[in-house]
Amino acid sequence: MDTNDTEHICPPSALKKLNNPLRRLVHNPRRLFGEYIHPGDTVLDLGCGGGFFTVDLARMVGEDGRVIAVDVQQEMLDFTRKTVEKKGVLDRVTLHLCRSDDLALDGVSANFALAFYLVHEIPDREAFFDQVARALKPGARFMLVEPKGHASPPLFEKILADAEAAGLKQERPLRIVMSRGVFLQKI
Ligand SMILES: C[S@@+](CC[C@H](N)C(=O)[O-])C[C@H]1O[C@@H](n2cnc3c(N)ncnc32)[C@H](O)[C@@H]1O
Repeated sequence: MDTNDTEHICPPSALKKLNNPLRRLVHNPRRLFGEYIHPGDTVLDLGCGGGFFTVDLARMVGEDGRVIAVDVQQEMLDFTRKTVEKKGVLDRVTLHLCRSDDLALDGVSANFALAFYLVHEIPDREAFFDQVARALKPGARFMLVEPKGHASPPLFEKILADAEAAGLKQERPLRIVMSRGVFLQKI
């Protein structure tokens, strides 16, 4: 991670809140995106934090699938490693340290991507969406969710326009408490 670029990045001290088991009541992974993930899939958990979603993604892709858990902070990846190890699914998770301006996903061809509460922390959205689009197979879904407090309606519209410019078309909006979210599709 660039040492001078930590201002807008979620600190590891937030992990207790992010990985609180009660969060499943509002952010239930199977209900949110279960229909789009199949055994054997390769999926991206972008800005994985402490692995709150990584565990369920790993269960959904099964033994023959792969979750690439991407984060800019090594401390987050270390926490994710412990989380998925405890749940017995580390064998299907790749922990991937990226740079704030480069996801470094060359050669990846994924069936699904998740960016949950990440995009407001991204310094260069244009480059980010370009890199995500390149890492997805045509037709693949990309679930993008932002906290309402960090994405006003006009900002969220801008975010969607940036995504669309990279070839990530809006498929349908999502209704999630205190959040704005959409399913995008790589065209
Ligand atoms: C608010 S947390 C959300 C974590 C997780 N998605 C969740 O919902 O529990 C945002 C995460 O994105 C990561 N992040 C911030 N900027 C990033 C970037 N440029 N590339 C990859 N990850 C980034 C942070 O380190 C942090 O772990």
